[in-house]
Amino acid sequence: MVIGIIGAMDEEVKLLKDEMEINKKIKKANMEFFQGTLGDKPTVVVTCGIGKVNAAVCTQILVDEFHVTNVINVGVAGGIGDGIVPGDVVVASNLVQHDMDTSAFGDKIGQIPRLNTFDFKCDETLINAAKKSCEALESNSFIGRIVSGDQFIASVDKIRWLSSEFEALACEMEGASIAQVCYLNAIPFVVIRSISDNANTGAHMDYQKFIPIAVKNSTKILRGMLKLI
Ligand code: ADE
Repeated sequence: MVIGIIGAMDEEVKLLKDEMEINKKIKKANMEFFQGTLGDKPTVVVTCGIGKVNAAVCTQILVDEFHVTNVINVGVAGGIGDGIVPGDVVVASNLVQHDMDTSAFGDKIGQIPRLNTFDFKCDETLINAAKKSCEALESNSFIGRIVSGDQFIASVDKIRWLSSEFEALACEMEGASIAQVCYLNAIPFVVIRSISDNANTGAHMDYQKFIPIAVKNSTKILRGMLKLI
């Protein structure tokens, strides 16, 4: 087992890197891959950068060059579902790219044309390990759909649409593209996001304030999870 752990931003994986026993640092596609052990598991931790393209490139490198057997994406997200507030955690059951739109051809928004799935389903074992690990947290945790797109959502209308169109619990900018690459390579994955804002008009402000709490939460969850998988 080799676990690939992806965060979009340095601050999302910094605590993990501090805990990790690092054997090697490898630079590829302008990303630094830290190879070593975390808990007792062979692990590669990487900051992929923001957005779907960075995330996809990074995930394929983890598969091809580092031969990861599982991928875990951690980080922050905007909360969408009822009662989901900053500090809460959402474990994805599945992910959709909300900015994929070929509805002109009759497709549902989010459907990747000519792919035989609408959503990308997370691995049950990884979901269950995340769920168990979340039980030890003080924060509330939820399991459901996360949507991703190359947009920082800061509009009430947009979150209403993401909720009604996709029944999404949270939105971010990488998870569903990591999920697609894992799907294409048949690699089990899960996405765990701590809510940093409510994706509304004050999103930017909340984001700065809650990011440290959110990052602490996801680091704690990962620590617990690694003992269970
Ligand atoms: N990540 C954290 N908050 C977000 C938001 N409001 N939109 C997109 N990605 C996010």
